Amino acid sequence: MSEAPTRSHDTSVWFRDPGRADKLSPTLEVVPTAENFDLVVIGGGPAGYATALYGASAGLNIAIIEKQKVGGTCLHVGCIPAKELLETAAVFRTVRDASEFGVNASPPTLDLQVTQQRKQRVIDQLFDGLVGLLKGRKVTVIDGFGTLHADHVVRVSGGLSGEVEVTGAVVVLATGSVPRTITGFEVDGRFVVTSDEILSLTDLPATAAVIGGGAIGCEFASMLADLGTKVTILEALPKILPGCDADATKAVERAFKKKGIDVITGVPVHGHDPGENTTAVRYGDNGSLDVELVCVSVGRSPLTDALGDGTGVERTERGHYVVDEYCRTTAEGVYAIGDCIATPALAHVGFAEAIFIVQQILGESPTPIDYGKVPWAIYCNPEVAFAGYTEEAAIKAGFEVVTAKHRFMGNGRAMILGETEGLVKVIAEKRADGTGGRVLGIHLVGPWVTEQLGQGYLAVNWEATVDEIAAFIQPHPSLSELFGETVLSLTGRSLHG
Ligand code: FAD
Ligand code: NAI
Repeated sequence: MSEAPTRSHDTSVWFRDPGRADKLSPTLEVVPTAENFDLVVIGGGPAGYATALYGASAGLNIAIIEKQKVGGTCLHVGCIPAKELLETAAVFRTVRDASEFGVNASPPTLDLQVTQQRKQRVIDQLFDGLVGLLKGRKVTVIDGFGTLHADHVVRVSGGLSGEVEVTGAVVVLATGSVPRTITGFEVDGRFVVTSDEILSLTDLPATAAVIGGGAIGCEFASMLADLGTKVTILEALPKILPGCDADATKAVERAFKKKGIDVITGVPVHGHDPGENTTAVRYGDNGSLDVELVCVSVGRSPLTDALGDGTGVERTERGHYVVDEYCRTTAEGVYAIGDCIATPALAHVGFAEAIFIVQQILGESPTPIDYGKVPWAIYCNPEVAFAGYTEEAAIKAGFEVVTAKHRFMGNGRAMILGETEGLVKVIAEKRADGTGGRVLGIHLVGPWVTEQLGQGYLAVNWEATVDEIAAFIQPHPSLSELFGETVLSLTGRSLHG
């Protein structure tokens, strides 16, 4: 671990510095005024660029407007950099614990400059790949801030493309989201950061408070703790990880406790009092916590300032674009997808919505997305992955359920890896004889579960029954045996469990 207790943040990250020369995408084309496209997409994040790529692969003529860099939050300040830093934490853990395997290495130290350079290399490589794909499919990328006006006219300004006006037979709003902030915890370039800034840390804090124990909070808490920071999560609700099954949350909390993360739930935060090197975070009735860094991760707000006059597009009270189950806004021929609508704020949901709307535009009749069954994958350590109902939600929805849980501590491969925290939980409809019928939900916590979710995801979405899945053979020794074992036990018989 780097010893320096002081921190600095790279505040010149891409999203704050529109003047950066390197933001110029090689695909940039300054299009003539009033050019018509089949599809004009505002926003080049996963939802927007997937619309462009998929649409172009079907022969549509597409323009995409991006005010920063194609790739959006996910590529530049979201999924990719966060997972890259979590991988650094995993490598650090492996070296730290290597002597357990008889592999003697010096205690690891962290060079965050090198870490950041590696992270950036991964981003740059993916960015170049994306730019190449867009170019290869002849998508016109227009650099600047896009606003939608009446009659599908989109005006672009303030970017390297200058003043541009284009029209789309169809317009897609894919403008994404930004970190939500809370009063009293404004980003100050010193103590308070959001996910945007923490990804550019150049010195590790000795202590940190993470406000909000959702996906972002848990990933950063885990990453910092594994690298040696003393972390406290302050969560307003009674439990962390909203949307997660209660047993899964308990397993994560247990593992977090073991790595020294304090999880304090059910507490409001009131503000913080900066000192010289630390700031005192006030929470609950009279709690106070001195920390070097405060990471605010209390959700994200939709970014929907791309509307000019007379568009007919409406927004909800919380600021999302209003859409129906076909992602159609209240204006004819205008769709909205991704984080700017009130569907799960996940890159892969954005991809799915992109494909879904392009199919509609092509005159096909795709089935609306079942948002209750999308896969969730959270990359803290231990990892979390789930699809379908939680036990609580299934009961609330009127199902009579039967559940089975098996822990990784009894799994051979997990023991070999030295990662035995976590469990597999399967929720199924209860049959008259007490065994499991249709699989309703699958919840995993443990090693590589984000890569193991596939079987459970298919089971939930194909509405497979316990009997059908129990007949499948899992390789031995493998982590996925635990899924097989858990499903098998819902048949009323079992092997090891
Ligand atoms: P965005 O990615 O936000 O892209 C929107 C784009 O539109 C931006 O590039 C923006 O510059 C541009 N734009 C906005 N308005 C305009 C305008 N008027 N004119 C021109 N351009 C405009 N999801 C996962 O599935 N897995 C993960 O592991 C994961 N990890 C995450 C980790 C972090 C730290 C964060 C913050 C998010 C994470 N997410 C993850 C969520 C994921 O990043 C988002 O769901 C995803 O990026 C949303 O895609 P989008 O295209 O809707 O929006
Ligand atoms: P979130 O909605 O997942 O969690 C926010 C948490 O903050 C909640 O538990 C909420 O109760 C809590 N909170 C809200 N206000 C608070 C307050 N004033 N004080 C204390 N706690 C408060 O939002 P998060 O973690 O910011 O992530 C946003 C979204 O980004 C996620 O919902 C997810 O869709 C996406 N994401 C996905 C990841 C993944 O798939 N691996 C990783 C990171 C983000």
